[in-house]
Amino acid sequence: MAYKRTELSPEDIDRQLALCERIRAMHGGRQPLAMVDTYGCQQNEADSERIRGYLSKIGCGFTSDETKADIVVINTCAIREHAEMRVLGNVGQLTHTKAKNPDQIIAVCGCMVQQEHMAEKLKKSYPIVDLVFGPHELWRFPELLLTQMTKKQRVFAVDDASGTVYEGIPHARDSKVKAWLSIMYGCNNFCSYCVVPYVRGRERSRRPEEILAEAQQLIAEGYKEITLLGQNVNSYGKDLDQPMDFADLIRAINDIPGEFVIRFMTSHPKDATEKLFQTMAECKKCAHQLHLPVQSGNDRVLKAMNRHYDRAKYLEEVALARRYMPDLVLTTDIIVGFPGETPEEFEDTLSLVEAVRYDSMFTFIFSPRKDTPAASMPDPYTRQEKQVWFDRLLEAANRISAEKHQEYEGKTLRVLVDGLSDGKHGNLSARTDGGRLVHLTGNETLVGQFIDVEITGSNTWALIGRVL
Ligand code: SAH
Ligand code: SF4
Ligand code: F3S
Repeated sequence: MAYKRTELSPEDIDRQLALCERIRAMHGGRQPLAMVDTYGCQQNEADSERIRGYLSKIGCGFTSDETKADIVVINTCAIREHAEMRVLGNVGQLTHTKAKNPDQIIAVCGCMVQQEHMAEKLKKSYPIVDLVFGPHELWRFPELLLTQMTKKQRVFAVDDASGTVYEGIPHARDSKVKAWLSIMYGCNNFCSYCVVPYVRGRERSRRPEEILAEAQQLIAEGYKEITLLGQNVNSYGKDLDQPMDFADLIRAINDIPGEFVIRFMTSHPKDATEKLFQTMAECKKCAHQLHLPVQSGNDRVLKAMNRHYDRAKYLEEVALARRYMPDLVLTTDIIVGFPGETPEEFEDTLSLVEAVRYDSMFTFIFSPRKDTPAASMPDPYTRQEKQVWFDRLLEAANRISAEKHQEYEGKTLRVLVDGLSDGKHGNLSARTDGGRLVHLTGNETLVGQFIDVEITGSNTWALIGRVL
């Protein structure tokens, strides 16, 4: 679809907020309860905070118990078949809660429903679902909900669109310490295995002045960690009237007074620049943390994936980033068993992992996504064969993570205490500058503070620290 950048006007969102007031008045004084269940990535978590923001304006309280909820919103993911199966299973379970409470409103939104076949499936096989809307329609959730409530009929808002940019939707954020900040929406890359560009539309950037205003607001409210979100943050700003690049955006946020840390994800290796690494190194508030998904270590597979870089370029990039930031924490995503990937090609991924030594890795077995090019490529290896490769990769990933974590032991580090935890290693959770998880024991008033800790132990997934 040809893409023209469209910005919604402030009046469009104001109208939605006015509709929230109308819905609030319909409750007649009783506070309804809502439950929002989120699947998928940080983009979806940020979207769920917007949905909860609207629900708060409607006057809802929140519950995590679906049997008590008047409104259930399931925000779905389509990235792999497993994600969709989980969603459909959980939607199916709601048959029981709806049988007990026939007035319960069940809404399903997010990436999964933006696929025509999935919207159809919900329409035909899940009659308990009252409202279905894709990511492009989220901004008008109040209007859709009001239509469903007043007309008492099912509403499906899943038209294909390349997407809009909107400002001013209220957020009900999960944390008081860390905040997601979407800087752009959509994706233009069409990696051959990936559904995201089809369900989230084309890349579009928010204006820098809006992003800076939101960052300033967050810092004024006491947030200490801001994570900039986009499917490929490195192409931020290309579609603006006055183009601005991602490194300049980091610098502008870094210049906002206050003690806070800037993180971001995700960075596509084809677009990562020396300027970005230099800016990360120079900006004191920018974490030395880079999520740089490699997907595969083999050039033929990378080409078939439509990734636009090869192994050599990726390795050069990692070396360059580490030259600027010797303490860089590097993480990645890898797909095992891309169609036609041979055992020898998989060995290239394994050897790349051993060469780079990631701090942590997210590993996935290829899952064919309807209508993506990879779904129709010949795929001769069985699931069982792929599982063997996957297990070997996971063993390497876990071993390297544990070794890297061990190197922290005995060191003193500044961490941000970001929440409570109920694990056996302490009652507080914290993050190092590079984003590694630290378990601590200490006073709950430390939440939201940067403190020094001594690392006393570690495992594959986390560090264990002692408050100094
Ligand atoms: N925009 C990000 C990734 C978003 S999806 C990026 O480009 O890196 C997160 C991860 O899911 C991807 O990096 C990829 O490793 C994995 N993934 C995406 N589609 C997949 C599929 N069809 N099968 C298996 N894994 C997939
Ligand atoms: Fe998917 Fe590739 Fe876009 Fe990431 S960059 S969201 S993997 S198409
Ligand atoms: Fe899933 Fe959509 Fe994110 S498909 S990974 S929730 S962009």
